[in-house]
Amino acid sequence: MRYETIHNQQIPKIGFGTWTIGGQGTSDLTKDEKSLSALRAALEMGYTHFDTAEGYAAGHAEELLGRAIREMGLRREALFITSKVSPEHLQYEDVLRSCENSLRRLGMDYLDLYLIHWPRMGMNLGEAFRALNQLAHEGKVRNLGVSNFNLKLLKQAVALCQTALLTNQVSYSIPDRTYVKNGVLEYCQQNDILLTAYSPVKRRNIKSNPTIRAIARLRGVTPQQIALAWLTTQPRVITIPMSFNPQHQAENLRAADLILSASEMEQLA
Ligand SMILES: NC(=O)c1ccc[n+]([C@@H]2O[C@H](COP(=O)([O-])OP(=O)(O)OC[C@H]3O[C@@H](n4cnc5c(N)ncnc54)[C@H](OP(=O)(O)O)[C@@H]3O)[C@@H](O)[C@H]2O)c1
Repeated sequence: MRYETIHNQQIPKIGFGTWTIGGQGTSDLTKDEKSLSALRAALEMGYTHFDTAEGYAAGHAEELLGRAIREMGLRREALFITSKVSPEHLQYEDVLRSCENSLRRLGMDYLDLYLIHWPRMGMNLGEAFRALNQLAHEGKVRNLGVSNFNLKLLKQAVALCQTALLTNQVSYSIPDRTYVKNGVLEYCQQNDILLTAYSPVKRRNIKSNPTIRAIARLRGVTPQQIALAWLTTQPRVITIPMSFNPQHQAENLRAADLILSASEMEQLA
């Protein structure tokens, strides 16, 4: 595994997403066995960075992640756990409550990273950060960040965050350059902020893209691994693919060690 070294921390270039673990917008208990076995497989093969949210399966994704980690007897310090506060909970008291609830569901006493999941029209970002800064001060969260923030909002968040804002988690992949075009990637790279790319392999046109396929064939890897390596070859970019399939999970994990050449990056530009 390669790591991004930032603010004296080492963050794995590839982590594991948990959207659809335990359900989607609501919990679906019929998916528990499938979800737990996906999490166990990921933990066993060496994923250490897990991305979850209070909104995933209405908190059930956090419960299942905490359960899988406990059952495997893993040391908490060996893991990097991210969770997120939902946009409807950005009032001061609500942020504090949401964090307590996430910690309880995970069965943990701190989060490595806590994000605002989405900005909300009319939100009071100052109020939200007053609570987030307090959580960081109390040691309940080790790092703060945001998600789906455009450049203007990201700059506001940086100004309000009393610690170094660790990341903006956004949709980023070979077919989706929204956060390159709006200047967020460049700002992150110039200001020591990680860009965490979500939905890195989801789009169907990754598999069918002839350039990705040609590079994958020459390298003897899959198009999805090239899509992940394209992200992790970029400075300050990490990513969090999700898969229920242990073979895909292993391929995704190995993609962190694949560094694309300047010419391959050029072909995919
Ligand atoms: N902050 C936000 O607003 C936000 C939004 C969306 C997502 N996220 C986070 O980002 C994580 C990842 O994003 P995502 O789940 O939307 O998309 P993704 O990880 O890009 O794609 C997941 C899909 O790709 C398939 N897949 C994964 N690896 C594969 C491989 N090596 N080969 C072939 N197929 C593969 C999976 O199917 P199989 O199970 O069959 O492998 C699954 O259907 C989420 O789980 C979540 O934690 C955050």
